[in-house]
Amino acid sequence: MPTGTDLLDEIARLKNERNAVILGHYYQKPEIQDLSDFVGDSLELSRKAAETDADVIAFCGVKFMAETAKILSPQKTVILPDMKAGCSLEDSCPPEKFRKFREAHPDHIALTYINCSAEVKALSDIIVTSSSAETIIAQIPPEQKIIFGPDRHLGGYMNRKFGRDMLLWPGVCIVHEAFSETELLKLIAQHPGAPVAAHPECPPHIIDHADMVGSTSAILKFAKETDSDTVIIATEPHIIHQMEKAVPGKTFIGAPGADGNCACNICPYMALNTLEKLYVALRDLTPQIHLEEDVMNGARRSLTRMLDMTG
Ligand code: 13P
Ligand code: SF4
Repeated sequence: MPTGTDLLDEIARLKNERNAVILGHYYQKPEIQDLSDFVGDSLELSRKAAETDADVIAFCGVKFMAETAKILSPQKTVILPDMKAGCSLEDSCPPEKFRKFREAHPDHIALTYINCSAEVKALSDIIVTSSSAETIIAQIPPEQKIIFGPDRHLGGYMNRKFGRDMLLWPGVCIVHEAFSETELLKLIAQHPGAPVAAHPECPPHIIDHADMVGSTSAILKFAKETDSDTVIIATEPHIIHQMEKAVPGKTFIGAPGADGNCACNICPYMALNTLEKLYVALRDLTPQIHLEEDVMNGARRSLTRMLDMTG
């Protein structure tokens, strides 16, 4: 296994040889973000995957994101450095249980957060991400009944914002669930005037203290543009890497968990990806995403509706 700059050189060489594009999520380790061709939120990464003319997509994120890339670009080879990079929201929503939930509510449409399996996407009507949810819900007539899964906090936030009563699947993100209100209030008191930017996967007792709520990209934009020189970030702390690169003069503080620091809010699934595993994946074209044709077709239908509804 090459190490240090040799490893980076080998990844670059294999990337060229394979005609690969490396897509990275903001929650990846800084060294992975830095060698990605594009770093973005779930919606932006989906669009990039749909548009790329590369032969191989090396997806540095979690499995549902790599599956989305495969569904939108089925002719491409999609590799994920570690196939165990899952998501607690996906785990909370097994397709069979979701199917029964749908069948129990035949007069509801299923609006589903992208953090779910391809099978659940195929059972859904429209997919949303944290950055597209508001635009999409605003286009659905108020009288239309909706089931929303699997993130009950994003769904609850949308219900409060739009005065809707979508039926919520009881899933949570274990990372955003871990922020402590008591510790956040202590941090706010220590930094008077510092705004709090929060991801909508946070529970209401964190959202209630936020000055802005949005997707990872929206949080990054806010952090760059706010006049304040200190910003409290209530999402996975690896995104702070992009903020420090963009505005080195500002201070960004990760919102704390119950132990008073932000290390416990690192996503354990995202953290499974490493440079070494990325190198092996590019070298061997494995682990690779494979999905059944009918599942891909069903999931593409609900994903395409999202892309169409968000322009
Ligand atoms: P974004 O779409 O905001 O990047 O969120 C993805 C995610 O998994 C957040 O936990
Ligand atoms: Fe899933 Fe939460 Fe990790 Fe995002 S941060 S991938 S929602 S477990």
